[in-house]
Amino acid sequence: MSKTHRRLLVTSALPYANGQIHIGHLVEYIQTDIWVRFQRMRGHEVHYVGADDTHGTPIMLRAEKEGLSPKELIAKVWKEHKRDFDNFLISFDNYYTTDSPENEQLSQSIYLKLRDAGLIEMRSIEQAYDPVKEMFLPDRFIKGECPKCGAKDQYGDSCEKCGATYSPTDLKNPFSVVSGATPIKKVSDHYFFKLSDPRCETFLREWTQIKTPLQPEARNKMKEWVGQPGDSKLGDWDISRDAPYFGFQIPDAPGKYFYVWLDAPIGYYASFLNYCQTKGLNFEEWVTPNTTTEQYHFIGKDILYFHTLFWPATLHFAGYRTPSNVFAHGFLTVDGEKMSKSRGTLISANSVIETGFNPEWFRYYFATKLNDSMEDLDLNLQDFVARVNSDLLGKYINIASRSAGFLVKRFDGMVSDEAMSNPLLTTITSSSEKIAQLYESREYAKALRLIMELADQVNAFVDENKPWEIAKDSQREAELQKVCSVTLEAFRLLTLYLKPVLPAVAAGVEDFLSIPPMGWNDVKTTLSSTNPIKPYKHLMTRVEAPQIEALLAANL
Ligand code: MSP
Ligand code: ZN
Repeated sequence: MSKTHRRLLVTSALPYANGQIHIGHLVEYIQTDIWVRFQRMRGHEVHYVGADDTHGTPIMLRAEKEGLSPKELIAKVWKEHKRDFDNFLISFDNYYTTDSPENEQLSQSIYLKLRDAGLIEMRSIEQAYDPVKEMFLPDRFIKGECPKCGAKDQYGDSCEKCGATYSPTDLKNPFSVVSGATPIKKVSDHYFFKLSDPRCETFLREWTQIKTPLQPEARNKMKEWVGQPGDSKLGDWDISRDAPYFGFQIPDAPGKYFYVWLDAPIGYYASFLNYCQTKGLNFEEWVTPNTTTEQYHFIGKDILYFHTLFWPATLHFAGYRTPSNVFAHGFLTVDGEKMSKSRGTLISANSVIETGFNPEWFRYYFATKLNDSMEDLDLNLQDFVARVNSDLLGKYINIASRSAGFLVKRFDGMVSDEAMSNPLLTTITSSSEKIAQLYESREYAKALRLIMELADQVNAFVDENKPWEIAKDSQREAELQKVCSVTLEAFRLLTLYLKPVLPAVAAGVEDFLSIPPMGWNDVKTTLSSTNPIKPYKHLMTRVEAPQIEALLAANL
């Protein structure tokens, strides 16, 4: 099928270790997992790695609040995240943590290479400081009154009441969210990655505008930043934070730590390195600049800059290869609005499982919404019920029950080999490369539309041939077996096409058809009379409308 054997390293963004996985996150992990499973079915070598993003001020403060050490907190959250990803069938080959020895070593050595290249500079800057808690305050830890409308309790960047934007220093009566104290100004030495260096500008202009097939929206956004020669908006990047901070020490800089966004993407490599060591893979071969392997990062549109400016520059100037591409998706809304705690729409992954939802309903639904763009996508709860019940169950799953029963009861589970040349099956197999190309280009919505159109044709075939009527006539045994065999083989092919989205259903189907796990090449094989099927067992239940109410209630 696929002409060349590809070697792929794939990642999803590393979720922060200070909160639960919610359905917004799941959009990304499901999007990535579908792609990864598809590539595996194509026979490529794929390594899919992830990790928790564990460092930084919010995690440090959160741990304190919960009466835990940061390490205790991140160990607890790691288990919850891993449980959620397993429940949603996210097939990470390695799920690690950024707070690892591999990451510390890689972060420090990459930093030293950047320093040797003359790209690190120390500068004194003035910042907000909490004199009671004795720590520097990130912007979101300062609140005060809006300088425009006077609304109380507003963050340092914008007012939720009137929408004004400003900087934290503009707030009236500012206070530290941590201690309530009035912040003071304090000077401290910071380390900067000199992105404004002409070498970086030139590299990033070429990397974002020519070398990498970024999504058009992403490329245009980056164009604003890298500009024309002599007209770049790239500022130097502050990569250090002062103690107290939960993170890695900067070499030769006592009391200074790497900003979490410096070590987080390096965490992709650290997870992969950890995996390579256990699997006996050659890490160097994957990360060297002249490698023939591919490297893809799936991310949300909010963290594009980190992945298309800072990360490639970090890699390039430290002597590593750069990503083959970065795939950004949009944000999930629920019933057209931002997910909200008060409406119960900030739905945690765990609540979905605990209220008895089948995770594959979500995998299917998100897949029907996903494309290759950065547009936001909506979970419409009514539409969710309709799509699952009428498309997934009504059009696809039902096909199995419409054909398997007769084959088992009347023909010892044996299909008719003659039936395998039916034109309906040729129609279905002839779509395989089109569907593959849609998965490859992350056009899952289009792929599923095409697969459901094929399911419509299969259902039309059953309706026309009416096996339940043929079954009444003992003279028409052979015809009955044929019709059911065509239908069941069609079901096998649809299952193959849906397998990246519905891995558990596909495993159930492979089991009852008594066939080995299907790869994409199995569009060329067929069911055979030498291999009888087992009795049909239930593959999936319907979603009931009251379950939706229960899910929202569980998240209030
Ligand atoms: N820790 C950083 C990523 C570091 S990568 C080296 C981070 N974490 S996050 O937990 O906030 O988000 C993880 C991923 O989930 C991000 O790609 C983010 O865009 C995505 N999403 C978070 N909320 C989302 C939605 N509501 N909808 C879709 N994706 C969402 O960012
Ligand atoms: Zn205001």
